[in-house]
Amino acid sequence: MTRESWTTRTGFILAAVGSAVGLGNVWRFPWMTAENGGSAFLVLYLGLVLLVGVPGLVAEFVIGRRSRRNPVGALSTLSGSDRWGLVGLLPVVTTVLLLSFYSVVGGWILRYFIASTTGAYFDAPGAYFDAVAFGPSAVGYHVVFLFATATIVLAGVRRGIEAATTVMVPAILVLLVGLAAWGTTLPGAGDGLTYFLSFDAAYLRENFFDVLGAATGQALFTLSVGAGTMVTYASYLGEDRSLPADSAVIAVFNTTVGVIAGLVVFPLLFAQGLPIGESGPGALFVSLATAFSTLPAGRYVAVVFFGVMTLAALSSSISMLELPVAYLVDEHGVDRRRATAGLAAVFLVSGSVNALRPAVFDVVASTLVDLLLSLGLLCFLLFAGWVLGAEALAEFREGTGSFAGSLGTPWLYVVGVALPVFLIFTVLTGVLGAVNVPLGSAAVGVLTAALAVAAFATLRRSRSVL
Ligand code: ALA
Repeated sequence: MTRESWTTRTGFILAAVGSAVGLGNVWRFPWMTAENGGSAFLVLYLGLVLLVGVPGLVAEFVIGRRSRRNPVGALSTLSGSDRWGLVGLLPVVTTVLLLSFYSVVGGWILRYFIASTTGAYFDAPGAYFDAVAFGPSAVGYHVVFLFATATIVLAGVRRGIEAATTVMVPAILVLLVGLAAWGTTLPGAGDGLTYFLSFDAAYLRENFFDVLGAATGQALFTLSVGAGTMVTYASYLGEDRSLPADSAVIAVFNTTVGVIAGLVVFPLLFAQGLPIGESGPGALFVSLATAFSTLPAGRYVAVVFFGVMTLAALSSSISMLELPVAYLVDEHGVDRRRATAGLAAVFLVSGSVNALRPAVFDVVASTLVDLLLSLGLLCFLLFAGWVLGAEALAEFREGTGSFAGSLGTPWLYVVGVALPVFLIFTVLTGVLGAVNVPLGSAAVGVLTAALAVAAFATLRRSRSVL
């Protein structure tokens, strides 16, 4: 059977933007920004999207388009070794874990969308969230969200994913811009904007490593990098257009949505004098619900806001389901319908565990996923830089103009040396910081710098590459 491909380049870009734009932008980004010093986090995050996210995204695209396979098939066919295929299982596992909690949050959002129409949470937003976040009814909404995800994936790459995201992504953008414009008119909104957009160097200096770790995790999460979803989406590319150009468009689009989401959330909260920066996945739900319940037209705004979030969550969850579906179809010859139905049954169970056990949810949704995304990206980067080498360069240059083509060699050094070293550094400092090891950052810094020099020297000696 012939493998599907996107109908148009725009279709691919919108699908990839849909994968990137999701709960990461609307729920996690303002929450992380609030917890990490507002503007200080914003500046670092924007830098990391550019310096880590975009080259990483290009690496995933290069691997996907070159192989025209899911991550497992991509790594095994391109390397000619089944061992790399085993490495490719890591992103499959990551995506399975990711969707298991993502579908629960998708269910929360869907519930808030419906509850906003009746104002069900208006009287006691905090108690409402506590009552519905985990338990049998959370399982119910998770199942509905999962069903919607599976329905789109079942219809295939063109008729399902491409058709859905072509409508959803423009709708998300238009509605969010409208909400942001409304947010800035609220009395007191100026304080929120100042907090969000002004640069706080002192905060950044004092908390550099904490902010760095959080901003790195967020940059990967938001671009859907490290989980292999972008490898899978690029595997459906028929024509050889410029991958660096596509990556830049997707990153700009995704970051713009993140910033606009901040322009909605911060004015809303400051205008109501509500606390920000509380930890926990429910903080934003409770704060926003409180804001909506006190504003004159709050109910209508809430319907639009949670409607946008539902679309954004769905356009990401379909990319997470598509990855294991592609794996079963490509590697085991399973028919798409059976693969989707079988995986939906698996997610039904794994998501229910998250919906019933807050302790499991907390670990999976934060620490575990951040770590697995970094490790997954590390594998893809090492593969592109060291296993593919010259082949990766050729794929990078395919379809590019002379300017983008000239960026190929620096890109290979970045993905082969600089980013792996950076990722190892942030993962280790994060772990050492968590266990309170003094001088951890300095020691890890020296170690990773030595590693960088050795790696750089080895890569330069490899004549087949450069
Ligand atoms: N990139 C997806 C998001 O931001 C996972 O929600």
